[in-house]
Amino acid sequence: MQTYRLGTSDLNVTRIGYGCMMIGGSWDDTPLTDSIRSAAMDSVHTALDAGINFFDHADIYCNGKSDEAFAELWKDSPHLRQQIYLQTKCGIRFGPPHRFDFSYEHIINSVEGSLRRLQTDYVDVLLLHRPDPLVEPEEVARAFDELSRSGKVRWFGVSNHTAAQMELLRAFLNQPIVTNQVEFNLIHTHMLDEGIVFNQYNARLTRNEGVMEYCRLHNITLQAWGPLASGRLTGRKRPKEEKHVQAAATRVAQMAKEKGVSPEAILIAWILRHPAQIQPLPGTTNPERIRAACEAEQVSLTREEWYDLFTAGRGEKLP
Ligand SMILES: NC(=O)c1ccc[n+]([C@@H]2O[C@H](COP(=O)([O-])OP(=O)(O)OC[C@H]3O[C@@H](n4cnc5c(N)ncnc54)[C@H](OP(=O)(O)O)[C@@H]3O)[C@@H](O)[C@H]2O)c1
Repeated sequence: MQTYRLGTSDLNVTRIGYGCMMIGGSWDDTPLTDSIRSAAMDSVHTALDAGINFFDHADIYCNGKSDEAFAELWKDSPHLRQQIYLQTKCGIRFGPPHRFDFSYEHIINSVEGSLRRLQTDYVDVLLLHRPDPLVEPEEVARAFDELSRSGKVRWFGVSNHTAAQMELLRAFLNQPIVTNQVEFNLIHTHMLDEGIVFNQYNARLTRNEGVMEYCRLHNITLQAWGPLASGRLTGRKRPKEEKHVQAAATRVAQMAKEKGVSPEAILIAWILRHPAQIQPLPGTTNPERIRAACEAEQVSLTREEWYDLFTAGRGEKLP
């Protein structure tokens, strides 16, 4: 699979990554079972076989069980640790009260827990998961310095952050922000809409404060979470699906048929077509759907096809 550098890092990441959020089975306290471990390995090996070298985690995923299930990989293949990249996140704490925590102590403790569960000495990338209104950038800088010095974290990034929030952090951090992971898919296009509807009368309200442009300007790779729109455009049945989403799903299916690929591949190819080199992180645990998403490597979309899908996903005409 094609690779590129993640932001200003030296990591040569595949342009599609794999989201490990759901491989731990459930978000409750029930322990991991053999069947969950085995299903997790099926998913991870399918992603590896498709050529993926980048795996996205977070301390909270399935209450830590997704990390533990992933660590099964080292049992048979310890050499793989040197060949793949692991990214994790910290900063969300389940309640009560549900909260965000960018304190020095929480960042350090979270990374220690992730390393223990993932059974590794280091992660390649650590992200701040969701903006903490009580952030003290000096404390984040102190934690990042400590994690960098000890070799526990190689590179740093953020998730769900605005341009101003990244600017604030960058003024204090001694390491670059190499990625910002945000929700982005054919029916979640706020990052693009902002630039489209600027100065339009009666435009839908979109406020991303130039996240896309900021990341492109500062060589911060955007990662797309939710790139498959949770299946809403590729066959998942919901009791009350919006009309324009149904129409977009039909357009995706038609284009997939025309090109002889899966609908999942069309969704991922639509993200890959963007010149910002956005890295999609599909999170399906279903091996068939993982392979379907990775077929996007073989799909190239023309400008016209990209706009056709964009318009279908927005459900309204461009100005
Ligand atoms: N930074 C953040 O705040 C944040 C938030 C959420 C997620 N993430 C990351 O992004 C990754 C992907 O996100 P995501 O899982 O929300 O989105 P996604 O990749 O768009 O969707 C995957 C989910 O949709 C389901 N799905 C897909 N196609 C389906 C179909 N045809 N029928 C039924 N279900 C279908 C999958 O179930 P199956 O497993 O059964 O296929 C899975 O639960 C995660 O793994 C995580 O690494 C980050």
